Amino acid sequence: MKKLVLFIFGNVKVFFMTIKDTQQDRVVWDDEGLPRSSKFDDKYFCRDNGYEEAVYVNCEGNGLRERFLALDPLSAGTFTILETGFGTGLDFCCAWQMWEAYAPGTWTLDFVSLELYPMTIEEISRALALWPLLSSYKQELTAQYTAVPGGIKKMSFKEGRVRLTIVFDDVLAALGVMKDRQLVLDGADAVFLDGFGPAKNPEMWTQGVFDGVALLSRLGTTFSTFTVAGAVRRGLQAAGFEVKRIKGHGKKNQILVGQKN
Ligand SMILES: C[S@@+](CC[C@H](N)C(=O)[O-])C[C@H]1O[C@@H](n2cnc3c(N)ncnc32)[C@H](O)[C@@H]1O
Repeated sequence: MKKLVLFIFGNVKVFFMTIKDTQQDRVVWDDEGLPRSSKFDDKYFCRDNGYEEAVYVNCEGNGLRERFLALDPLSAGTFTILETGFGTGLDFCCAWQMWEAYAPGTWTLDFVSLELYPMTIEEISRALALWPLLSSYKQELTAQYTAVPGGIKKMSFKEGRVRLTIVFDDVLAALGVMKDRQLVLDGADAVFLDGFGPAKNPEMWTQGVFDGVALLSRLGTTFSTFTVAGAVRRGLQAAGFEVKRIKGHGKKNQILVGQKN
């Protein structure tokens, strides 16, 4: 938002221009009603297959269905997902939906994400309304969601069976906070790497980010991401991840998955 202000002190006129980097500068809605980031000139997801793509890239890419089914119903534990870029909450809702369908009731899903440019509740609600299958998750999420710039927001759903923590900070600082505050205990089980395309938002794809994610991972931690950019592959390898390209979804030829060695 650009604001031009004119002050008049007697005969002296002073022009004042503020450039305010507000939420409205970042989330715009295209002709199809899809959210886009004007800051990064990139979309949050596609209309045709945004939901299917999220399920395919992140849930299937990390083998979540099989891993949830394999959890021992006679014991209790926590399955932790780390995400870079909370955005609309679509990936969180998809993981939660899969958790409800396949994980035993004795286990807890701990979803830990980060976000520097949070959407408002209204924007999240409008974005998630595009996916009727997620309507109940959208309602529960928006009933608790508040952005806390520079802080941490913890939410709990389904009597604590699903927990969501969002660190509202720049990716590197947020990964540091997760480490220092032990928000990802024992290393993540799975990582969703997002953050708009690397060409449009290189800050989300630096070696520091990959190393930070690796510090929050353990042997066998899996990851998935929609981008197969060479720099991302090499960066993840340098951080100790084994990476492989697999078939993509829709128009995307390939995606990247792998695990920590
Ligand atoms: C493609 S969107 C993520 C989509 C999300 N996973 C979802 O389910 O909707 C990428 C997100 O990364 C966030 N982001 C961009 N740069 C960032 C930074 N430097 N630190 C933290 N978050 C950032 C953006 O605000 C945006 O919400």
